[in-house]
Amino acid sequence: MNQSLTQAAPHLQIEALLNPHLKVSPMKNFLKIAEGCDVMPLMCALAYRPDLWNQNTLRTAIPGTPHSQVSDIWLRFNDMERANRTGDASYVFDEHESIDYPAFGQLPQARPLIFGLMARVGGERLGRCLITKLPPGGHITPHVDGGSHAAYYERFHIVLNAKAGSRFRAGDEVVEMKTGEIYWFDNSQEHEVLNASSDDRVHLIVDVRCKTPAVARSAESSHVITPDGLWWVETSPAEQGCHG
Ligand SMILES: [Fe+2]
Repeated sequence: MNQSLTQAAPHLQIEALLNPHLKVSPMKNFLKIAEGCDVMPLMCALAYRPDLWNQNTLRTAIPGTPHSQVSDIWLRFNDMERANRTGDASYVFDEHESIDYPAFGQLPQARPLIFGLMARVGGERLGRCLITKLPPGGHITPHVDGGSHAAYYERFHIVLNAKAGSRFRAGDEVVEMKTGEIYWFDNSQEHEVLNASSDDRVHLIVDVRCKTPAVARSAESSHVITPDGLWWVETSPAEQGCHG
């Protein structure tokens, strides 16, 4: 076991939660909405552009951040020049508007993934989009995504690269997401990531404002993804609807 994995070992909660016998009900905090997505073009493009990582380190370098072991590429984010110009960064956590960053143009392979997701979930507004990388043994420490931005948008993860052992906990649930899958997850729950695998965990995070977001959080709902990509949530008859 390498040193970084040894350092991650004390975080036993996420290990224990992987026991399948602990969960007998459908997951509430994660929803897989797609699989088999062709993420290889974007991964190949990333291999040719190592310079794009960590040009923006607000998320990863601020003291106390849970993302200190992460590398980021911002495709879309809040207008940080505005924050720097005004000297007031507080709006970053309240403002819903994101702008394109240069990497969005430099990685056009991300566009079909992002806009395919938007179409699949009936997205009405596109928020932050960033590619994030957690090395083997890395840990994103427990936290809750706060602020009105997190409440306004639904958060999706497009898995660009993952090996067995890359574990994602939200609340009392843990999933091992696979390359090419897309998940919605409830980032209002306390969550953490432990990459107990032998490879980088690379995710494309996409924030989407959806037409009817609240139903996805319904604890009693079961979810069905139809073959044509429309997203149905089975609740009471009066609440049934298509969210595509
Ligand atoms: Fe988070």
